[in-house]
Amino acid sequence: MPIITFANTKGGAGKTTAVLILATELARRGNRVTVLDADPRGWISRWHSISGAGALLSVVPGITEDTIEQAAAKARKRGGYILVDLPSSHDALLAKAVGLADHVMIPVQGCAMDAAGGAEVLELLNELDARCNVRIPYSVVLTRVNSAVTTRALQAAKDFLAARAISVLATPIAERAAYRDVFDKGGALDRMNPADVSNLDRALENAERLCDELLSIMPQRAARPVARKSAAEKTMKKAA
Ligand SMILES: Nc1ncnc2c1ncn2[C@@H]1O[C@H](COP(=O)(O)OP(=O)(O)OP(=O)(O)O)[C@@H](O)[C@H]1O
Ligand SMILES: [Mg+2]
Repeated sequence: MPIITFANTKGGAGKTTAVLILATELARRGNRVTVLDADPRGWISRWHSISGAGALLSVVPGITEDTIEQAAAKARKRGGYILVDLPSSHDALLAKAVGLADHVMIPVQGCAMDAAGGAEVLELLNELDARCNVRIPYSVVLTRVNSAVTTRALQAAKDFLAARAISVLATPIAERAAYRDVFDKGGALDRMNPADVSNLDRALENAERLCDELLSIMPQRAARPVARKSAAEKTMKKAA
């Protein structure tokens, strides 16, 4: 089953939040989900340690450049979806996580700097394609979008992406209290108390739409050449 790597070299772009939204939504639909937490600060592991999020969703903490392949192989045996939460670094861990991925999701908060961080991930994907003929599908998702207005910063991010012909998912992740508060409260989004969180219904509906769109563009898991991981690393080394 597919490995989806969440990457943006800019910190705070919304990677961990997007992982949580999709992980809990996929589990809600009855899928097994394994999150590989490759961020040394372990935010998603901390969230999961509060109360878990059902038997279908597990989180493996402390993933590093040295352990990611083994952890991914173990998660594959478990079956279901594997989501990788990366830190913002541009390093061998990023290359390995991208090389392992069946799909790379690039969250971009509404500012041009975030878009530039996303573009660094796209450069890595382009180099993999150009040098090694390895094409990894990706999607860019706009995050923390204000559902009422388009801010200037968001427009700048959109312009940045459009100027480079980078297509963006039709479903953005809106700015929602639920997506922030769930990290403190623990548990799945749909288990939150609507009385405690404003617009929980909209947050859940957004998660559903995002998941629908992602699944609709993700190809069936293709057979992956064994050389692929090392190709990604070589590309990173050449680029360095
Ligand atoms: N859609 C959203 N609605 C509300 N708050 C959000 C949303 N997305 C992200 N945030 C908040 O923005 C901050 C950064 O988000 P997040 O931690 O997901 O980014 P990140 O890319 O994982 O950051 P890092 O690079 O540090 O790992 C967090 O405080 C998070 O709660
Ligand atoms: Mg994070």
